[in-house]
Amino acid sequence: MEMNRQGNVAPDGEVLHPSLSKEAKETAEKLRALAQSDRLAFWGEMSKDITWFKEWTKILDEGNAPFYRWYYDGQLNACYNCVDRHIKGWKKNKAAIIFEGELGDTRVLTYWDLYREVNKFANVLKNLGVKRGEVVTIYLPMIPEAVIAMLACARIGALHSVVFGGFSSDALKDRINDSGAKILVTANGGYRRGKPVPLKNNADTALQGNQCPSIEKVVVVRHTPDDVPMEPGRDLWYSDLMNEAGLYCEPEVMDAEDPLFILYSSGTTGKPKGILHSTGGYMVGVHTTTKYVFDCKDDDVYWCTADIGWITGHSYIVYGPLSNGATTVLYEGSPDYPAQDRFWAIIEKFGVSLFYTAPTAIRLFMRWGEQYPAAHDLSSLRLLASVGEPINPEAWMWFYKHIGRENCPIMDTWWQTETGAHLVTPLPGDTSFKPGAATSPFPGVEVDIFDEEGNSVKPGEQGYLVVKSPWPSMLRNLYNDSERFLNTYWNQFKGVYLSGDSAKRDEDGAIWVIGRVDDVINVSGHRLGTAEIESALVEHQAVAEAAVIGKKHELKGQAVSAFVTLREGFTGSDELIAELKQLVVSKIGALARPEDIFFTSELPKTRSGKIMRRLLRDIAEGKVLGDTTTLMDPEIISSIKDKYDKEAG
Ligand code: WTA
Repeated sequence: MEMNRQGNVAPDGEVLHPSLSKEAKETAEKLRALAQSDRLAFWGEMSKDITWFKEWTKILDEGNAPFYRWYYDGQLNACYNCVDRHIKGWKKNKAAIIFEGELGDTRVLTYWDLYREVNKFANVLKNLGVKRGEVVTIYLPMIPEAVIAMLACARIGALHSVVFGGFSSDALKDRINDSGAKILVTANGGYRRGKPVPLKNNADTALQGNQCPSIEKVVVVRHTPDDVPMEPGRDLWYSDLMNEAGLYCEPEVMDAEDPLFILYSSGTTGKPKGILHSTGGYMVGVHTTTKYVFDCKDDDVYWCTADIGWITGHSYIVYGPLSNGATTVLYEGSPDYPAQDRFWAIIEKFGVSLFYTAPTAIRLFMRWGEQYPAAHDLSSLRLLASVGEPINPEAWMWFYKHIGRENCPIMDTWWQTETGAHLVTPLPGDTSFKPGAATSPFPGVEVDIFDEEGNSVKPGEQGYLVVKSPWPSMLRNLYNDSERFLNTYWNQFKGVYLSGDSAKRDEDGAIWVIGRVDDVINVSGHRLGTAEIESALVEHQAVAEAAVIGKKHELKGQAVSAFVTLREGFTGSDELIAELKQLVVSKIGALARPEDIFFTSELPKTRSGKIMRRLLRDIAEGKVLGDTTTLMDPEIISSIKDKYDKEAG
């Protein structure tokens, strides 16, 4: 399916969006030409939008590749770039954050308000003894305090480690312990579909019995009316601390390569990895992409529906938009509370012009029906964007028609926690869009698709999506685990970044991302490691072994599906299935709850003992079994298939 638009002029000559017309097209051409003629000069030029305390003189140091350094002798502060530099002119009174609570309460923080709050909280953290280079864990709902806490960390040179509020106490505990955080910032509760989310209780469970020895203090934001127990000497109310805090905190002068934050993300094996981002390169990457991919302008109202606990929230709710001095909408609740038109009501209410969401949400909206958006004034929208998984062409068309009203281009942005910022995406000035294709590398980014040997594949062929040269916002390392960093990303093709995704190019050179090629699955745009879920399952006394796969799912993209073998003396039952599902929820969080669990007497393994998840996926998706020649005992897989088709199929 292909669709051509003549710039931003409809076939009948009507100008669709003046703001996206000639100027956007010229900008796209200019950026691409500059990057093509000199890639590093392009990134040098882009860095000029950032305020540096000390200008860099060297753009890229490749001496210790793949531990690349960008702008490394430059100095800056990320918080200063997001806040201070905007309060000197008219933006002082511009809305920085428009917060909409699930219950319909609204708070607007101007850049001045944000400046005040961030300075005070930076002083709170300092008063609690947090020093430059130390870690603060943030476990909060989608409330302004989450942004304030992140920026306050950046201001004093502390690293934030934000843990998604949907993660369980166990997951929180693991992430605190891996990072050695000194302070935990949480809330007494949050809201989800009208029900309270017990964040403080989860935090208490994570910390109980000195399970997180590094934590000294817990700062608690009062967000819901609920009372929570406060442990004397450890727990402190946010509001009390803020009342006593000084008004101004000098921003730390950070080196470009000083780390800005850690964000845990699922990998193929073992525990989640702490992805480490730097200050200078990250800020250049997120600033540049927000500005050019979203065509973000001073009068825009921008809304990204992701959670702050994921990279999309970090880069495109907080750092990218605020660095650009944009107005960023923060919505705490779910899309169907109190009704299924909530998102459209929010767009109408605030006059949202740039809207960034995920394919899984779009498929949900499609199912609910076009009458919900149709009932609202969405005429403020001028650009749409998508992230998280490949957007299927049907969802693209629906989004284009019913939300964009055939008036807004759609940026399908491919990127990852590791890449920090968009790497493959159309630009708003492009004149043709292909529904379902992430299209082309962002200027200054060298993406390719490799076969097993590291040669570029031909058009139409599938291969590994790789990045052939460093880019500013790339991860710098895995926290305390350089070896895993090298093995995961750099050792398969020397000097080339392996993304873990597969993709193909079409005859026009457009890139179509297909999906993960490793044991990472993508459930509703959330990244989960099969190994994490498996290790939760085997903690149950009845379970001998478990194999988890991502099975195609109409709404979620993939759903978690588990194949489990039981120990002697145990038999599968509905009760056991319920217990196992609950176990996964308590170990990781509701997002990882298996959709189905299937008991089998054996699992298919290779001669070296590796479970062949690929074949289990074929079974679960009702496909013809793929290559079984490497199996130790090919009989096993056909008996699992027979049993599955009979019982579950
Ligand atoms: C997938 C989220 C296709 C991909 C920003 C990637 C996508 C993983 C797209 C990263 C897209 C994200 N098209 N696939 N536009 N965007 N993905 O780290 O598999 O949570 O590797 O970062 O999401 O997920 P992560």
